[in-house]
Amino acid sequence: MCGIVGYVGTRQVTPILIDALKRLEYRGYDSAGLAILTDKVISVCKTEGKIADLETKLPDMKGTCGIGHTRWATQGAPTTVNAHPHVSGNIAVVHNGIIENYQELYDWLKAEGYEFVSETDTEVLAHLAHKYYKGDLVRAVIEGLKKVKGSYAAAYLCSDSKTVVAARKESPLVAGAGKGENFIASDVTALLKNTRDVVYMQDFEIVQLTGEGMQFFDFDGNPVKKKTETIEWNIEAAEKSGYPHFMLKEIHEQVTSIHDTLLGRISELSGEVILGEVTLSIDEIKDLERIVIIACGTSYNAGLLGRYLFESLAGIHTDVEISSEFRYANPVLSGSTLVIAISQSGETADTIAATREAKTYGCHTLAITNVVGTTLSREVENIVYTRAGPEIGVAATKTFTSQLIALYLLSIYFARKRKKMDVDRSKRLLVSMKQLPGMIQQILNNKEFIQKQAKRFSNARDYFFLGRSLNFPIALEGALKLKEISYIHAEGYAAGELKHGPLALISKETPVVALATRSSTYDKMVNNIKEVKARSAQVIAIACADDNEIDKYVDVVIKVPIADELLYPVLTSVVVQLLAYSSADALGCPIDKPRNLAKSVTVE
Ligand code: M6R
Repeated sequence: MCGIVGYVGTRQVTPILIDALKRLEYRGYDSAGLAILTDKVISVCKTEGKIADLETKLPDMKGTCGIGHTRWATQGAPTTVNAHPHVSGNIAVVHNGIIENYQELYDWLKAEGYEFVSETDTEVLAHLAHKYYKGDLVRAVIEGLKKVKGSYAAAYLCSDSKTVVAARKESPLVAGAGKGENFIASDVTALLKNTRDVVYMQDFEIVQLTGEGMQFFDFDGNPVKKKTETIEWNIEAAEKSGYPHFMLKEIHEQVTSIHDTLLGRISELSGEVILGEVTLSIDEIKDLERIVIIACGTSYNAGLLGRYLFESLAGIHTDVEISSEFRYANPVLSGSTLVIAISQSGETADTIAATREAKTYGCHTLAITNVVGTTLSREVENIVYTRAGPEIGVAATKTFTSQLIALYLLSIYFARKRKKMDVDRSKRLLVSMKQLPGMIQQILNNKEFIQKQAKRFSNARDYFFLGRSLNFPIALEGALKLKEISYIHAEGYAAGELKHGPLALISKETPVVALATRSSTYDKMVNNIKEVKARSAQVIAIACADDNEIDKYVDVVIKVPIADELLYPVLTSVVVQLLAYSSADALGCPIDKPRNLAKSVTVE
């Protein structure tokens, strides 16, 4: 997730773009830049760091037309050279999204004589527009983008004319209409100070902004009629896209974040997973004797699912360790061990220290992380970026499900290389994974029902979350989410373990969330539900859409769409997140900033 802005009008553009970028900083903040048109010359200023760092470096850039960018790196470290805008000849571009066929376009453009200066995928957009530019920027942008696979909201500036051209596919983009001036931005937050009249752009639409107006086209160059809407939100609400909390917004964003984690990484045709930043050779993958996953908190819970996947799909013995325990445990590791560090922030002190400890044993290292260029990413040989975009709420939500997706991808990748999974199974699984965003949307469509159930039980002092096998990590995650944001005491338990002690705590005052999607342990799970029901617990089951039996045994059923059995943890995660969110909301808790907690724990 990055933020893009553009302006054409009569006022000085630099302060307008800087102010707009500051409002988009929540979308990304590792580097930033501007391109300004002055007397048919484009000047660019960019830097690593935040918008405030850019401000301190800005020369006196005069002009009334320009584009700007705040970056959250997905390809290429957050450096000045990788910051946007990127320039090719007389054209500059800023971009939010991921170019899936980057390598193919890079090779082709190189052969055509284009020089690349950055490591970003965006630079191909600048060269493509330049290649097709013959005096008409709209046409050049369309021709260039027709070659592109992936997602983009991109804004272009050309030294020949005072205009900004922008196009969208699968990344948000909104145009703003002023008097004698017009704007483009990743979202309305950046526009509200200047205009409330906006036009939401759809996929494969392109807009040309001038001081006089905005013209919209489709990708065949035909004019498109668009409706102008008036925004009623204030700026604070707009930052959260109208959601009351970032956490709820981020729960909703899982429809796109999972799509982004998958983008360009699966080939349904060949059944292969493509992980460009994994440099382990086929022989090294075949020789792996053990995987050790190290992580904290939510990332640890993701790791527990990873263990199941690596063992059952790729046949690799896997252990999962809490980073702060691992680092002092005198672990037994060897050159045929792969240590996988999972960390959203890439800055968690215990996980970094545990990774450094692992390296002293000469094992292979890999990070699953969301932030490019962090301390953790510099410590490891291999990386899988989760590409979930910045997460503002302290409670991890979209970054957790993207970690799960990264683990599915990695385990299929290893399973294929080790010849443990046949091509048909991997194709089926990959096809099902692509359907997850739509399934999550279906769960979100049922949000009000889930909210109602959470409110009904929000006065409980203690909660239990029960799961077996693949759903056990999600039981732990559901309990962690509820504890951290609603302050209700909650325990996540392997359902079969309950009768070895905690069953003593079950009473009619204890809501029990039972994760009971279809699996080989489903019948056992139903037995566990009967056990707690016999102690008068109130049971909320999370079950499959076609499960009409379970209603008989429980008080409430929350249904999830039917999916490949292996993938239910992604769907049940969204339900437990909504339950935790709605409980905290009913109790009036400060959801985005729970007491005593920080987003990133950089001390031991
Ligand atoms: O950035 P990390 O993934 O390394 O953070 C680890 C934990 O601090 C984190 O997952 C924490 O448990 C979550 N914010 C809880 O929602």
